[in-house]
Amino acid sequence: MRPLLSLCLAVFLAAPTLFADFAQADQTPIIDYRTRFLPQVAQHGMVAGPEKLAAEIGVDILRRGGNAVDAAVATGFALAVTYPRAGNIGGGGFMLVHLAEENRQLVIDYRETAPAAAGSALFLDEKGEVDRRKEFFSRASAGVPGSVAGLTLALEKYGTMSLKEVMQPAIALARDGFEVSYALNYEIGSRAERLLQDPVARKLFFHEDGSRYGIGETWRQPELAWTLQHIADKGRDGFYKGEVARRIAADMAANDGLITEADLAGYRALERKPVRGTYGDFEIVAPPPPSSGGVHIIQMLNILEGYDLAALGHNSAAYLHLLAESMKRAYADRSEYLADPDFYPVPVAKLIDKQYAAKLRKTIDPKRATPPEEIAPGRHMPGESTDTTHYTVADRHGNVVTNTYTLNFSFGSHIAVPGTGMLLNNEMADFAARPGHTNAFGLREGAANKIEPGKRPLSSMTPTLVMRDGKPWLATGSPGGSIIITAVMQTALNAMTFDMNIASAAAAARIHNQWLPDRVAVESGISPDTIKLLQDMGHTVETSPRTLGRTQSIMLSDGWLYGATDTRRPGGWVAGY
Ligand code: GLY
Repeated sequence: MRPLLSLCLAVFLAAPTLFADFAQADQTPIIDYRTRFLPQVAQHGMVAGPEKLAAEIGVDILRRGGNAVDAAVATGFALAVTYPRAGNIGGGGFMLVHLAEENRQLVIDYRETAPAAAGSALFLDEKGEVDRRKEFFSRASAGVPGSVAGLTLALEKYGTMSLKEVMQPAIALARDGFEVSYALNYEIGSRAERLLQDPVARKLFFHEDGSRYGIGETWRQPELAWTLQHIADKGRDGFYKGEVARRIAADMAANDGLITEADLAGYRALERKPVRGTYGDFEIVAPPPPSSGGVHIIQMLNILEGYDLAALGHNSAAYLHLLAESMKRAYADRSEYLADPDFYPVPVAKLIDKQYAAKLRKTIDPKRATPPEEIAPGRHMPGESTDTTHYTVADRHGNVVTNTYTLNFSFGSHIAVPGTGMLLNNEMADFAARPGHTNAFGLREGAANKIEPGKRPLSSMTPTLVMRDGKPWLATGSPGGSIIITAVMQTALNAMTFDMNIASAAAAARIHNQWLPDRVAVESGISPDTIKLLQDMGHTVETSPRTLGRTQSIMLSDGWLYGATDTRRPGGWVAGY
């Protein structure tokens, strides 16, 4: 792999005129393409994320001497202001940190927890059926938020700057406002119908007459600024105790919600050891349960390692068939064995065991799709709307942070807490509302993931680091609910196996199969001939109207940082210096 060479070639072919800028920048180490259609190249620091202002805030922190954790925390709070569909203080997520000096990786698990009053039948009606409205769009669908605890824990333990310093740009954006972009205008518009149903969300996101803020108009969020200022002044207690907590609990009590002041005061973000695997010469480092992402990426790569994928050719029918078959087997296991490890003994070591993968590989017919009923979870084992958001940060010291956090659906439950400027997550929908049945992402969920007080719902969030020669080489992640895991895996495979530069790896057409429903979703870009071959093998193929995930990645190679946002969705940005 010679990424600099291949990247230069890609840039040259795509936009020769930009080479003038490249030459002018030659006197300095700064090569900074101010465009979202090309990958950025930088030497000192970089943020790849879903929104421009927040990415630039992160890079500004790096420029001022902050490390990758400082920048990641600043970007996380800024996205809560500029990217309300998924950036948040009312949700939760997973942060994967690589500390260069110690050559160590760790995960901060700030997944939401079920409130103390939540029981396994929370979303069942009198007939025992799942009440989807309650599960998705009520205050009962909110888990105890983890984002503030996670971001503040990361900063306290691994950052260098004060909370006030890293939060100041987000507070200023909320208080003074910022110009609405095309992407934000579109995102709010696409959810307007439901957002307008909640009077508090209506006031937050719309003019008094219910019209949307136009592109270029200034949007201010004074109540969110108030909440952020409380956090900046008092740390995590500014959110989990005191007036902010009182406002959340009062709104819950008045509207059949479950979260109490005691739930908030008791919330803890946890530091966990990442799950690790290998794929050829590469090491994969990713979050452990309660995320299913790390376990299943490693499981699928273990299966795929036994084939000469490069010889099959990128996105050939033979290759996509093997991807789909490995995905099916992993998602079948997910339905049975994955859950919060503090409540259920998840057999991680067995699931990521190479011998187990070899047994699963033997069940794959290279010419025929295995019907889903022939795949039972763990048979050979020894003994999400689809939203969420991801960003990746690298600093000049070699530290890397890759962070995925979410409200679950785009704009969560579309319900905002009065006086806080904050949307509520609907993450309780990631539990098995009725074990053995499917959740919001069509994923079958087992009893291991039933609702229990204090438990974290199973997640697919997968901020991932690929190490090469013992050093970070690729950091990536994606939104997309159940699609996250397969989107991240294919982006990594594109780079590891097919030698793609990060821009190509991020934008190459992807597929997704999650065992049930029995279908292979494909993006446009997979050829009709290939689809026909897959159908002939027995796959049910459906072309997805949208991209399957949206990775935000940084590749670290030859002393350079190569960043790419998946340009097929609007608004993404790579900032570097
Ligand atoms: N809420 C989507 C996930 O955590 O997987």
